[in-house]
Amino acid sequence: MNHARSALVWGIRYGIPGAAIHFAARRGDPVARVIADPTVLADPFDAYDRLRSRGPVVANRMVNATASHSVANAVLRDERFLGGPTPAPTTWLSRIAAAAVDPAAIGPGEPPSLLAIHPPDHTRLRGLVSKAFTPRAVAAYADRIREIADTLLDDIANGPTTFDLIDTYASRLPVTVIADIIGVPVENHAQFLDWGDKAATSLDPGMTWREYRVADRAIRESGAWLTAHIADLRRSPGTDVLSKLVQLDQLTELELRSTAQLLLGAGFETTVKLIGNAVALLLRHPDQLAALRADPSGWDNAIEEVLRFDTPVQMTLRTANTETEHVPAGQSLIVLIGGANRDSAVFDEPHRFDITRTNARDHLAFSAGIHYCLGAQLARLESVIALRALFDRFPNLALDGTPARGGTRVLRGYKHLPLRTGVGVTQDQLAG
Ligand code: HEM
Repeated sequence: MNHARSALVWGIRYGIPGAAIHFAARRGDPVARVIADPTVLADPFDAYDRLRSRGPVVANRMVNATASHSVANAVLRDERFLGGPTPAPTTWLSRIAAAAVDPAAIGPGEPPSLLAIHPPDHTRLRGLVSKAFTPRAVAAYADRIREIADTLLDDIANGPTTFDLIDTYASRLPVTVIADIIGVPVENHAQFLDWGDKAATSLDPGMTWREYRVADRAIRESGAWLTAHIADLRRSPGTDVLSKLVQLDQLTELELRSTAQLLLGAGFETTVKLIGNAVALLLRHPDQLAALRADPSGWDNAIEEVLRFDTPVQMTLRTANTETEHVPAGQSLIVLIGGANRDSAVFDEPHRFDITRTNARDHLAFSAGIHYCLGAQLARLESVIALRALFDRFPNLALDGTPARGGTRVLRGYKHLPLRTGVGVTQDQLAG
């Protein structure tokens, strides 16, 4: 039964649109190419520029897309646009898919995930969760983040002189931090990383049946694990965020599970990519890394420039709830965040990586409007601490081979980033 349901949902949501998108991409359709052409996925920035040069919004028969910063910024803040593909299923096919979705297999892009719900539900749920991510609450995590970074760096220093940054550091730090914050046990981290990687594909347009099956299973397994964990927390709550949400008694069981799943996934899938992208960029721009060593006050802006230049979340989707100046009622618009961040109307020489860029912070890497990333401050804090600690510990850090891109169509980052430590320094030398 699960299999038949899954096949139906996949066919309607991904299979049929995916086939049409791939067909259009092969015929050179510029909108389809940015979401489905493998050569564009490897290096999408030229395709974004070409799309933008055709107009602020470019349409094909299925969907609209924008790589314009001003349109992206306006649409993300515009309440006439709703998050996700199917705010209200409008066609009979999408109604069938919505009815067939198994509550045990609800992904991060589907209600009641914060990403896919709308006011007033969104306002209520976000209000409850956001208390854990205020600037004050996030600042309190700094010491713990430093401690986690130091432990991981000790392990690297005690291991071979060559290592993979993603496996040993960039993925481990954010998952440990978010697991701590929401109160899931340390021994489950490897399992969460695996589930998160697999479930993240479900945000992709045109996912294949094979990808869908893998994502579906990861979502079901992580959901079942979290349901049991939430039941434990009801019996004996801790001081973590999930325990607090359980104790509030204001969220449905499904809202609790979906929120925990989103926080876990969003909490590390993206930050891993930010840390990896930053290390690769800085090692390729040694003069800029040297400037940061000389004046560490530049780190905050450097992170903003990494977020702008190599955006971890390349795109999101909005659907017009009513007629708008950008797209007609009921139509969807792919907001190419990675394209908006390279728009020369806002950023001088947008394809140049420059950690001193004065308006780097105008990027849309964390989106805008009501879905603005809840973890933005946490991601900034984690990445500054992680990067400073890494480059302080290993002043001679260097690439040791060619980094391999991984990620999905939506998420951009490295799967492997081989490094060699060179000569490191000890914790005592750092302190002295
Ligand atoms: C570099 C790191 C990160 C990036 C680039 C990023 C990016 C984003 C983006 C683009 C959105 C909005 C998507 C849309 O508008 O459709 C978003 C939403 C969200 N992010 Fe992040 N994120 C990052 C880290 C985090 C962390 C560490 C957390 C953990 C708390 C987190 C939790 C969330 C949540 C809960 C939402 C949904 C907010 C809502 O819909 O109201 N993110 N993120």
